[in-house]
Amino acid sequence: MPSIVSVRDLTKTYASGFQALKSVNLEIAEGEILALLGPNGAGKTTLISTICGIVQPTSGQISVGGHDVVRDFRGARDLIGLVPQEITLEPFEKVFNAVSFSRGLFGKAPDAAYVERVLRQLSLWDKKDSIIQRLSGGMKRRVLIAKALAHGPRVLFLDEPSAGVDVELRKDMWAVVADLKVAGVTIILTTHYIEEAEAIADRVGVINKGEILLVEDKAALMQRMGQKRLHIDLAAPIAAVPEALAAYALDLGPEGRSVIFTYDTKGERTGIVTLLNDLRAAGLQMTDLATRQSSLEDIFVGLVRGQV
Ligand SMILES: Nc1ncnc2c1ncn2[C@@H]1O[C@H](COP(=O)(O)OP(=O)(O)OP(=O)(O)O)[C@@H](O)[C@H]1O
Ligand SMILES: [Mg+2]
Repeated sequence: MPSIVSVRDLTKTYASGFQALKSVNLEIAEGEILALLGPNGAGKTTLISTICGIVQPTSGQISVGGHDVVRDFRGARDLIGLVPQEITLEPFEKVFNAVSFSRGLFGKAPDAAYVERVLRQLSLWDKKDSIIQRLSGGMKRRVLIAKALAHGPRVLFLDEPSAGVDVELRKDMWAVVADLKVAGVTIILTTHYIEEAEAIADRVGVINKGEILLVEDKAALMQRMGQKRLHIDLAAPIAAVPEALAAYALDLGPEGRSVIFTYDTKGERTGIVTLLNDLRAAGLQMTDLATRQSSLEDIFVGLVRGQV
């Protein structure tokens, strides 16, 4: 599938001299949901703002739908919807009017039927005549999304769509994103909630200190790095793993009270049964067993730590 967004060797150094992006390369396919995961200050908003043409790149090229975002800003911007990190809404405007106005800003002719479709999709239709100020926080976020969709963009950027949003509303937001994908919109969202990337993304990009550390298919990433750990609690602490068990590459738990066996979830044989037999043969008595699947969070923490 061809890329709808293409970022080549992008760097950004702010006027302060701070380098927020270091040679970023990114291709985003039409129709996918890409989650950009990174800690505070990683450069997520800078990257999105540069793609949207709001922040000038220091070097490199960016195109959206084949339009260069600097040389052909209008052509590119027409294809883009942006939901900013901060809530920016006219408090006394009515929902329907606010969304229609956003459409007008792009020079598009009024289209009440289209605005109605967007509002219905976001479950905002019954609020169309409400004053924005009187809406709940979650509804305000939906209005922001509706405004971003008002001109019918093909690519939607959501900068931290669920920051400061409660669990229920977050799940709501995920449903909205899934619906938009079905409608054919390409979605790039930033988040520092690993759970969010895990729940909705097709691909996950990890960004830290202005660098993209990886971009990979979510399922493949989780499978590739998906290992399970078996924690075996011991009746009596040991100072070191007995030589006879060296082949299992066990880790010693805190104070030698447990040993930890890491195994591949994809393997046909995990080796657990023979391990337990060999433990007994080595004179170790166990009191408890527990397994834990590594999550995207472990992968993320490992990657970001590895970079420090
Ligand atoms: N206008 C600016 N001038 C100078 N430095 C800036 C400017 N905007 C952002 N920065 C710096 O660039 C770095 C990246 O900021 P950015 O907002 O892109 O991070 P982020 O990943 O979106 O963080 P968060 O998760 O907190 O939103 C930060 O160190 C920030 O202080
Ligand atoms: Mg940000």
